[in-house]
Amino acid sequence: MENTQEGLPTDQEFHHDLVSSLPLEEGMSPVRLRKYQGVWMSEYFLVGTMNAQRYFKSRPTDILLASYPKSGTTWLKALAFSTMTRTRHSFGCHPLHHLNPHECVPLLDEIAGSLESLSEIDAASDPRLISTHLPFSLLPESIKSCGCRLIYVCREPKDTLVSRWHYHGKIVTNMGKSEVIPFEKMFDMFCDDIMPSGSIWEHALGYWNEKTQTPGRVLFLKYEEMLEDPTGTLTRLAEFMGCPFTEEELRVGVPAEIVSLCSFGNLRDLAVQQNRRISPGGIMTTESYYRKGAAGDWRNHLSPEMAEKLDRITAKKLQGTGLTLGRPVSETTAMDA
Ligand code: A3P
Repeated sequence: MENTQEGLPTDQEFHHDLVSSLPLEEGMSPVRLRKYQGVWMSEYFLVGTMNAQRYFKSRPTDILLASYPKSGTTWLKALAFSTMTRTRHSFGCHPLHHLNPHECVPLLDEIAGSLESLSEIDAASDPRLISTHLPFSLLPESIKSCGCRLIYVCREPKDTLVSRWHYHGKIVTNMGKSEVIPFEKMFDMFCDDIMPSGSIWEHALGYWNEKTQTPGRVLFLKYEEMLEDPTGTLTRLAEFMGCPFTEEELRVGVPAEIVSLCSFGNLRDLAVQQNRRISPGGIMTTESYYRKGAAGDWRNHLSPEMAEKLDRITAKKLQGTGLTLGRPVSETTAMDA
């Protein structure tokens, strides 16, 4: 599949050269952002993105878990993986006991950085569970056109920002650096759509539009609703993936077992025991994906002015779309705090 004609650059060399020619933003150091096809993206995932766009062949049976980073991806991966494979694994001896959810469901944007790993996905049997942080506009054409199912999870923008900032702190520490970006600076970049995977609003809208234009193709989940009703979410997830719980499974409590296996406390405890470096790039640890696992932590980080500014942007960007993300400050009460 690669161009190997003598004297000409290979596609891989071409992709690497293309990445270094793209507009660069270093305000989120050590993460370097490049503007690719109109979207700010982490440089680390760009060759993978280009390879995926060029070579990845989606199948109608694929199930793609899509999310903006820090929206509940880890949780969704754990739930989807354990639901889909539940007849193969007992809960007492489950792959999640020794693997991080990110090792159970590959991130296309990262794995496609190596053509060898991409061909491993190619060879995997149906149905394939794959994840991505790509905005809908950047998805490989084969995903857009093959009709495979998409499961999208989104989150309150204020909490997503806070989660990202803490995660960024872990990247800085794990890379042995000391300069953590001030929260106020990341806030400004977030408002200006200068984040890995671009604008949180455009990201959610891309999948929302696909949901409205192609009924039945997209299951649209919200992190806050998952927290409120994990079993209800799991039931919808299983039905959407084509493996609904049977009467017998309901009777013996299989959904409750999966919810408990994938709960924040359980996954975090397992991650602490696992205590290993994992992706991206072996920088993060199994623990890096767990922090508070709650809604509303923005109150501990954003001033009232910042919260109102973000709410205003959210309202403006989503106006007339039918999509809502989180709850504006004006609608929350002291009871929510
Ligand atoms: P916080 O930083 O607010 O705690 P992602 O998986 O997309 O990277 O998102 C990470 C966020 O999801 C983090 O939020 C993390 O704590 C939370 N999270 C991870 N696993 C979870 C789980 N099983 N249940 C609820 N939240 C979870």
